[in-house]
Amino acid sequence: MKVSIAIDGPAAAGKSTVAKIVAKRLNISYIDTGAMYRAVTWYCVTNGIDCQDEAACSAIISNVHIDLKLDDTVWCNGTNITEAIREPFVSSQVSYIASYKDIRLEMVKQQRAMAADHSVIMDGRDIGTYVLPDADIKIYQIASIETRAIRRYEEDLEKGIQTSLEEVEDELRKRDYIDSHRDFAPLKPAPDSILLDTSYLTVEQVVEEIINIVKKKMGEE
Ligand code: DC
Repeated sequence: MKVSIAIDGPAAAGKSTVAKIVAKRLNISYIDTGAMYRAVTWYCVTNGIDCQDEAACSAIISNVHIDLKLDDTVWCNGTNITEAIREPFVSSQVSYIASYKDIRLEMVKQQRAMAADHSVIMDGRDIGTYVLPDADIKIYQIASIETRAIRRYEEDLEKGIQTSLEEVEDELRKRDYIDSHRDFAPLKPAPDSILLDTSYLTVEQVVEEIINIVKKKMGEE
């Protein structure tokens, strides 16, 4: 049976961590749509294009060939950018890129094609509201800003990225603001989504919760 699961929510709410595990447990594909906006941002920055110049960024979109591989590595035009797209120079600019309509339309086209004929769990900001409005299951995953900042700060430390908790928190607030105030497909819960607050849950508890929701929903059909 084909199943599509949408997970949306603010930055660093733990969406991709749990989505990857759920994908393995259910043996379905995981699609990290944020990585696609990050790949476009990486391309613009490394080619000296100002990420706040909408026309210049939109003009290069057909040059950017993104490949999300099954081993969760991310490639752009043949370069492995899995680690580079998590660097602060990408994180600080990606919300601008993600607010440009022409770039979104191209990314959404590719995302829908990936979900067209097989089961997927896709995480992002507009999956349940815009990319897959008919998804079988829609989760809106949140956590307090303090929890998200600590989680992201610890992840950055592990990766050797030099930053401070204050900087991480400021950056998350800024990104959430831009992501939820843009004109086209902003971050917001789909009316038929299930709210999952992960502030006090472990990764394993969130995974179990989502698997139970999927089993219940698919068992009913
Ligand atoms: O999930 P993330 O932090 O990797 O996402 C990077 C940026 O891309 C984030 O600022 C929001 C944006 N994004 C989006 O607008 N729509 C999506 N479907 C996924 C991410």
